[in-house]
Amino acid sequence: MRLALLGCGTVGQEVVRLLHEQASDLAARIGAPLEIAGIAVRRLGRDRGDLPVDPALFTTDALGLIKRDDVDVVIEVVGGIEPARGWLVEALRAGKSVVTANKALLAEDGVALHEAAAEGGGDLYYEASVAGAIPLLRPLRESLHGDRINRVTGIVNGTTNFILSAMDATGAGFAEALEEATELGYAEADPTADVEGFDAAAKAAILASLAFHTRVGAADVHREGITEVTAADVASAQAMGCTIKLLCIAARGVDPAGRETVSVRVHPAMIPRSHPLASVGDAFNAVFVEADAAGQLMFYGRGAGGAPTASAVLGDVVAVARNRLAGVRAASESAYADLAVRPMGEALTRYHVSLDVADRPGVLAAVAGVFARHDVSIATVRQGSAGGSTGATGRAGDAELVIVTHVAPDAALAATVDELRGLDIVRSVTSVLRVEGGA
Ligand code: NDP
Ligand code: HSE
Repeated sequence: MRLALLGCGTVGQEVVRLLHEQASDLAARIGAPLEIAGIAVRRLGRDRGDLPVDPALFTTDALGLIKRDDVDVVIEVVGGIEPARGWLVEALRAGKSVVTANKALLAEDGVALHEAAAEGGGDLYYEASVAGAIPLLRPLRESLHGDRINRVTGIVNGTTNFILSAMDATGAGFAEALEEATELGYAEADPTADVEGFDAAAKAAILASLAFHTRVGAADVHREGITEVTAADVASAQAMGCTIKLLCIAARGVDPAGRETVSVRVHPAMIPRSHPLASVGDAFNAVFVEADAAGQLMFYGRGAGGAPTASAVLGDVVAVARNRLAGVRAASESAYADLAVRPMGEALTRYHVSLDVADRPGVLAAVAGVFARHDVSIATVRQGSAGGSTGATGRAGDAELVIVTHVAPDAALAATVDELRGLDIVRSVTSVLRVEGGA
């Protein structure tokens, strides 16, 4: 079985190492040896350490490598939309099987890849694209196919989980925690894709597509990053027995017209410390799946890094290689349900709102009136003196109000907060966060 490896960076180098170290076991598991036909990179002269591979295999001509007749499986660990999309469509149309870790491409244009795979008759596997080493897509795409999934809630970005965990543990602000993540090699030089939620949104789209048999793309995902999360928000969460996580949430629902829908969102949220996702620290990932018959399932492990990601890549390589030897292909993408994607405004959430308000008669009633006007029911109200857990101003004559709502449409909650911001009795809205996960 001949492999074309596209990319030999963090993940690609570990793929090469594992192929070398596990060669005889992999051959025994597949029924044929795996051989690297070529490795496409951008810079031939780059130092790749003591990689156990013949230097003559390196090329900058990825397309030429893909088109070779002796290539059976193409492994893509380059990343980005182009030229990866063109390469993979070419490979799939030519009947080769493809293994990729490229979540950005799958979320942007998974349809083109799946169509090319159907046309060419090869397999398209992408276990490494979501949550690195954690076996997650195969369970969604195979093991849980006899069940009905209702909700998937996950921590799918290691960098942001590291930052939020550090903020929770030390009280550090976002900038300080990001600096630590960069120093330790978790955050990239340009952390935008991680901290602004783009990476998690791409993964959310892939998860929702598989869980709900519906094509969900990156553009369908409501996305908010963690750059606005403050030390005061974290303190406020702690005062409520919660922690803050960047969550990806994909949920089945029913719209006002009675049609079944799916909503997919990525945003920071408070979750109770008793929730299984709350204890996921450091740069780990975890995904919590709720299904009709299976109940609650939790998948946990390393979501990033060369070796963990290469483990998932190699698992896919074994699967597609076996299929080729057997002359079969895996079941294709399942998008039969074709559920409508619900706008964020209709998503049902709870809010935690901290306000600095004037401490005088009638203020609480006025604030409660704003919630009532938008049909948002208040679950709890806590009042403290200014300078409380939310980092209030400490001004004499001010008070701190912390309000947690019952579930309401996101648009109603947002409109409530907008109106509160316009009241002169409200000195400032110090923290607004969604609350997920019961309690
Ligand atoms: P790196 O940046 O470390 O490596 C990218 C590789 O692609 C390099 O070898 C680079 O060549 C090569 N490359 C870039 N552009 C071209 C081009 N135009 N033609 C040929 N080769 C090219 O990326 P990673 O290994 O970190 O990530 C690879 C993929 O895996 C991405 O899709 C990423 O999202 C995904 N992924 C990564 C994880 C991680 O922890 N790193 C985790 C999960 C998924 P050269 O070496 O010459 O520069
Ligand atoms: N940047 C990603 C993360 C890598 O931090 O989780 C894995 O996709």
